[in-house]
Amino acid sequence: MCVKRKVFHENILNTSHSVYLCKMGGCTNICSSLSKYQFNSRSHMSTDMAADQRKEPGVVIKDGWAGYSLELFNCPEHYRGDLECVYIPHGVIMNRIECLARDILEDIGHHDLMVLCVLKGGYKFCSDLVESVKAQSCSANRRLTTRVEFIRFKSYLNDQSTEDMHIIGPDDLSMLKGKNVLIVEAIVDTGKTMRALLQHVETFQPKMVKVAGLLVKRVPHGAVELPDYVGFVIPNRFVVGYALDYNEYFRDLNHICVISETGKQKYKV
Ligand code: HPA
Ligand code: MG
Repeated sequence: MCVKRKVFHENILNTSHSVYLCKMGGCTNICSSLSKYQFNSRSHMSTDMAADQRKEPGVVIKDGWAGYSLELFNCPEHYRGDLECVYIPHGVIMNRIECLARDILEDIGHHDLMVLCVLKGGYKFCSDLVESVKAQSCSANRRLTTRVEFIRFKSYLNDQSTEDMHIIGPDDLSMLKGKNVLIVEAIVDTGKTMRALLQHVETFQPKMVKVAGLLVKRVPHGAVELPDYVGFVIPNRFVVGYALDYNEYFRDLNHICVISETGKQKYKV
């Protein structure tokens, strides 16, 4: 049995110069034998057509992108020496989120939504995304209820991923049964968190599960499967801000920025 999923072309995992995304959103068919984590039970949607017609995987930021000079943006003074550049300005993030909210509404058809927010990095994205979904649904004169639950993974120390990854969150997610579930993650790199969560969520028998990822990072051996809604595809650089942290610092920064070596040393544990 084959399912429709957006997938990364293998080239994207290795390239150091340019971005190659293959058949994005263009109903790439992958057979269920490709991965043991096939999501053939994920999408029980009547609106996959709309998703398929979206040509872009998200805003693709190329490897050579140096970001904007910090002087051009309003950044907290206490972080000045700790940042290299503004990578994605806050306004751009917000505008992109409006587009993701529009796509989500197009797919779920203004039906009630159970949102599963992956803490801590996802809290701003989740909050802004849910607000935008509500606002757009309201201005279309539709009614939709949203409920947000929170889940947490601990897997990063300094800028390195650690092997032991465990879910900290509500033990009982039985409220997901029969519901449209949207998992909201700030960043997807190896895809480990996304896979683990999808497996976990599926055990509660939701009607449909979709994943929104603000950032998808091009890392070696990165996620083969893309989230259903992608904000930005970014190079393999450690970014902070907009709730993304480095040892709990920088969450209070509105822009997404690249941390400097000085910053890494200063906040190292
Ligand atoms: N920044 C913050 N947290 C992260 C990142 C990152 O670039 N990648 C994975 N977790
Ligand atoms: Mg973190």
